[in-house]
Amino acid sequence: MKKIILTIGFVSFSCFFFAGASKYPPLSGSQQQPSLKNSAKFPIGVAVDIPALINNEDYKNIVTNEFNSVTTENQLKWNRVSPAPGVFNFKGADAIVDFAAQHNMRVHGHVLIYFESLPQWVQNFQGDSAAWEQLFKTHIQTIVRHYRGKVASWDVVNEVIDQNGNPAVNDGHRGGSVNVWLQHLGSDYVARAFTYAHEADPNAVLFYNDNGHESYPKKLAAIIKMANDLKARGIPIGGLGVQMHMNINVTPANVKNALTQMARTGLQIHISELDIRLNPNNLPDTLSPEITKQGALYNCLASAYRTLIPKSQQYGITFWGVSDNNSWIINAMHQHDSPLLFNNKYGKKQNYQLFMKGLSSN
Ligand code: XIL
Repeated sequence: MKKIILTIGFVSFSCFFFAGASKYPPLSGSQQQPSLKNSAKFPIGVAVDIPALINNEDYKNIVTNEFNSVTTENQLKWNRVSPAPGVFNFKGADAIVDFAAQHNMRVHGHVLIYFESLPQWVQNFQGDSAAWEQLFKTHIQTIVRHYRGKVASWDVVNEVIDQNGNPAVNDGHRGGSVNVWLQHLGSDYVARAFTYAHEADPNAVLFYNDNGHESYPKKLAAIIKMANDLKARGIPIGGLGVQMHMNINVTPANVKNALTQMARTGLQIHISELDIRLNPNNLPDTLSPEITKQGALYNCLASAYRTLIPKSQQYGITFWGVSDNNSWIINAMHQHDSPLLFNNKYGKKQNYQLFMKGLSSN
């Protein structure tokens, strides 16, 4: 085994990988093309949305050639799937699930309980705690039942612990939304969400999904504590989603520490929303000086996941978007950036090769 150290600027990236062995695992038949999915021993996923998945050939080709898992980026958020009381609109998510079935891909469902994507009718809902509980339960179970046997796993609850490790009362830094579940259902709603989802599909793997594990130690500790408590109570949590919306100032040591600690829960670990911003301060000028750092961090992340997470807990690594022009960093956050592995013209960037190298095994 060889240790490779890349020193770039003041940041030292230290990764391990096996030298001398074949770069790719043995492939068979139609799988001869080198690709992300053929280079990894765990699923490689991507968040997808429509209409691109239906209309855009370049986008579709990347999804089918490179990935073997898809996450529903927006189509199962409450405001899309249930825009009015009692109404469930599965059209968008069904199209993604059908596409995945045609192409033999795993589907990860995002997201059942997320207070940031609630429609007005839920935010303004009037009722006592029993009525809120009914709303919560019906939402979870209607969706999970609809996709029973088709969606392998769910982000059951998303982003409900703040950066100091306390229950999130609102979305603070993003400004606005209030955690209505905490407000109306009390602190144990997280456990009940898992129980309700499990009743609706006992075979689905159920995740708690959040971000900032690599940057906020108190938050990381609180997530791990919550997961261990849920497990000890027999609540059917199966995994932890580690979003890893990162930027180039995150160090490999931060990433390795987060992954090592999460793995100790014994749960499935899914890097669930990966992207790396080059330009965290959103400067208007060129992005190129940081590209090497970004590539090195992609390389380290892949190798850290492969080596630090036990094989039986490797649920996979999922990118949050196919190509830069489809990234939420550009389209929703309006940042001047280039965070993914494929560029605006759907071409492979250097990040692609470096990430792939990090996936290699002996
Ligand atoms: C983002 C989507 O990518 C955007 O298209 C949308 O406008 C806002 O939400 N954490 C999550 C995701 O769990 O649901 C968010 O997705 C990104 C942050």
